[in-house]
Amino acid sequence: MLKFLEYALLIAGLLFFQTGCRQSADSDQPKDISEIVVGFAQIGAESAWRTANTESIISEAKKRNIQLKFSDAQQKQENQIKAFRSFIAQNVDVIGFSPVVESGWGPVLREAKEAGIPVILVDRAVDETDESLWVTVIGSDFILEGERAGKWLIENYQRVKRPDKRMNVVNIVELQGTVGSAPANDRYRGFRNALAGHPNFKIIKTQTGEFTRAKGKEVMEAFLKSDGKKIDVLYSHNDDMALGAIQAIEAYGQRPGKDIIIISIDAVRGAFEAMAAGKLNVTVECSPLLGPQFYDAVEALIRGETIPKRIVTDEGVFPMEVAEKELPNRKY
Ligand code: AHR
Repeated sequence: MLKFLEYALLIAGLLFFQTGCRQSADSDQPKDISEIVVGFAQIGAESAWRTANTESIISEAKKRNIQLKFSDAQQKQENQIKAFRSFIAQNVDVIGFSPVVESGWGPVLREAKEAGIPVILVDRAVDETDESLWVTVIGSDFILEGERAGKWLIENYQRVKRPDKRMNVVNIVELQGTVGSAPANDRYRGFRNALAGHPNFKIIKTQTGEFTRAKGKEVMEAFLKSDGKKIDVLYSHNDDMALGAIQAIEAYGQRPGKDIIIISIDAVRGAFEAMAAGKLNVTVECSPLLGPQFYDAVEALIRGETIPKRIVTDEGVFPMEVAEKELPNRKY
């Protein structure tokens, strides 16, 4: 008899607890920050930039006491889609994600919308036309980054490479980022925008280095093998590929930063070290420290506030002349 009573009391207690939880979860009141569950579908760990970005997303959640479910897709879109669907199934409050490529997101974005889960795009955008599928895009203007890289080249090439000579054709090779990704597409476009009207700047080779140091080195080796001493400039869509290419250039017996001018994007610490050593000429900043902006948007959403459709990060350009002074200030 006592056993039965204990059992009945236990069930009653559990029911009371469950009902209480549901009530608080279903109430119209905005949730407390500590109740929020955020799912974040990250791309992978292809670069120093990405590692810093992941660190920013994870550490900022801890700092704000927000529960984070984090998934690393290891560079595969199908893994990101799986993670996305699992966040929907778990009924998280907000989904953040950095799409590995621009296309192919319509179905999962619509599933999230139908489930009433807001989506925030972090770092990269998608090429869907229905903008109601996400709340905002937080991150850099990649076209502007490509334009800044091209502008620096046009304004500085003569001074750096041929101060005492007439400038003739400038042969450029380009290392692109992940095929189909927003930064690769936009940095490709932005650089060409800047070069338009400057016919002596010629892009003689362009190929993907997948945003990784190893692939950057491999592709630069191939460029050097086929075009050798003809190459005047390397434009790399990120610092990791540029750092890999520097190794290839040195192994080929040329001086990176002198024989071949190197322009890259991201402004990670490794790039500043290479600039301080005179091996990289300029890096265009692309900040990975998006955690604070992301959770500001999450919290604003939970409070029911309206968020701008695009939140652009403020960034600069760092030529090698400022590298040594800037190095101690770098946060990534
Ligand atoms: O989307 C941002 C880009 O992705 C960074 O420039 C690159 O390093 C990263 O992998």
